[in-house]
Amino acid sequence: MIKAVIFDLDGVIVDTARYHFLAWKRLADELGIKFTEEDNERLKGVSRIRSMEILMELGGITLSQYEKEKLANKKNTWFVDYVERMIPEEIYSGVRVLIEKLKERGIHIALASSSKNARTVLHLLHIQNLFEVVTDGTMITHSKPDPEIFLLAAEKLGIDPKDCLVFEDAEAGIEGALAAGMLCVGIGSQEQLFKAHKVIRHTGDFTMEMLDEFNAVALK
Ligand code: G6P
Ligand code: MG
Repeated sequence: MIKAVIFDLDGVIVDTARYHFLAWKRLADELGIKFTEEDNERLKGVSRIRSMEILMELGGITLSQYEKEKLANKKNTWFVDYVERMIPEEIYSGVRVLIEKLKERGIHIALASSSKNARTVLHLLHIQNLFEVVTDGTMITHSKPDPEIFLLAAEKLGIDPKDCLVFEDAEAGIEGALAAGMLCVGIGSQEQLFKAHKVIRHTGDFTMEMLDEFNAVALK
């Protein structure tokens, strides 16, 4: 029985995944590294420093720890710059309504984002109140695909991981949710997110009938 839904933030609640991509792309261009949207899939859901390391792998370059952190911070400055110009309309359509419907069914709602900027984004868009529990990149040691953040969210909600359904747009996030023993909905393309229990295009496409299907499977 699904008792809690745990949402990722970037690319699930709001279109900030685009800003992460634009900021990494800008850094890649500066470093002369070829970086495509396809490459960017590997960066989704993982920590800032791990993303920097993947970018270095893609470019075949090595950097000192100091250099690595300096460049990752530079990327973050650009990302924050983009985010500060965001407007509430950039929250994906149907997300608020979906969360309201889930709450009407007595389902607990949490956020689990690897981003250290998650609270800033929630604050800027005035959507902190949608979530009973917020877990983010400042609260964990291992980022997705490690299950740590999902297990922490479940623990804070007081719900058994097997009764949690996760919404994720990143492969690393889906792996983390599965490793936590949770059910998972992928947001994006079936081809990319095939490991999820179900894949839908947009978060707002999720229906209460789909929730019932998850419950039916969980009851078997
Ligand atoms: C999320 C995003 C990643 C991002 C990571 C760290 O998981 O999907 O693209 O790199 O958070 O974000 P931060 O804001 O801490 O750099
Ligand atoms: Mg995401």
